[in-house]
Amino acid sequence: MPLTDSLPQTNFSFDKWVEGKKLLGKNLAELVRGYIKEEALKEKITPGLAVILVGDDAASQVYVGAKEKAAQGVGFLSRIVRLPKNAKQEEIVSHIHTFNHDSAIHGILVQLPLPPHVNEQQVLQSILPEKDADGFHFINQGKLLAGESTTLACTPAGIILMLKSLPVSLAGKHAVVVGRSNIVGKPMAQLLLSLLNMTTTICHSRTQNLQQFVSAADVLVSATGVRQIIDTTRVKEGSIVIDVGMHRVDGKLTGDLDLAPVEGRAAFYTPVPGGVGPMTIAMLLFNTFQNAVRINKQNLIA
Ligand code: GUN
Repeated sequence: MPLTDSLPQTNFSFDKWVEGKKLLGKNLAELVRGYIKEEALKEKITPGLAVILVGDDAASQVYVGAKEKAAQGVGFLSRIVRLPKNAKQEEIVSHIHTFNHDSAIHGILVQLPLPPHVNEQQVLQSILPEKDADGFHFINQGKLLAGESTTLACTPAGIILMLKSLPVSLAGKHAVVVGRSNIVGKPMAQLLLSLLNMTTTICHSRTQNLQQFVSAADVLVSATGVRQIIDTTRVKEGSIVIDVGMHRVDGKLTGDLDLAPVEGRAAFYTPVPGGVGPMTIAMLLFNTFQNAVRINKQNLIA
């Protein structure tokens, strides 16, 4: 199956979620949740999502709470395991093994970051690839590189769905991803290349002349996790600017970018909050739904 099957197979009408230049991920996420609900009814399945949270990181607690609420909102079974920050790696993995064997669970997610005494990769790789809700299993990352249908990392998948739902042709245009994390930067670049046929550049903390790339980008994705290292007064006129950052400044949520200059120059941009964040959660639900469909089909054949 081709990679494009890893996304919802429907068109979401542009006028229901784009407001002026603002790409309202919040609204598109609602459409995606409606689609998932309908499809789960059609397939007669109740997808189950299990989330493991270790420690008391404030942001992670907010994200996990939002994931639980979203899963319940679309009628999924939702299980959360909360472990103390000194939990042993074996204990975390043992919960994963239990969910791997639980036929009611189709998506397993370990909220990152994990405390420093835990080996993140050993934990993530103990999730069955069929139940990986995040696309972080090596098998699923390999399938992404090979262009095979798989479970995609949620944030890049949500961004690709937004870009695919716009009435613009991006093939052959220049995409610049700033950030090279396994969670966002690397899968993002791969998807822009393979699903949208864009000429794709990855920039990072060691890139020389970052601003030169920023000014050349038809699609700019900022996934640095650092505020205001990109000079947004120089984004390309008519470009699409995606801000993956999430920071709390004086009690207010804001992204990586100063969006005021972007409003005047870009064709479209994602606000923070209400842009990329809600799409990440919608794609987590979609991944869990898609895993459930695949597992259900396998069970019918077996
Ligand atoms: N922490 C920040 N983003 C993510 C994500 O997409 N998945 C998981 N599991 N943890 C995260």
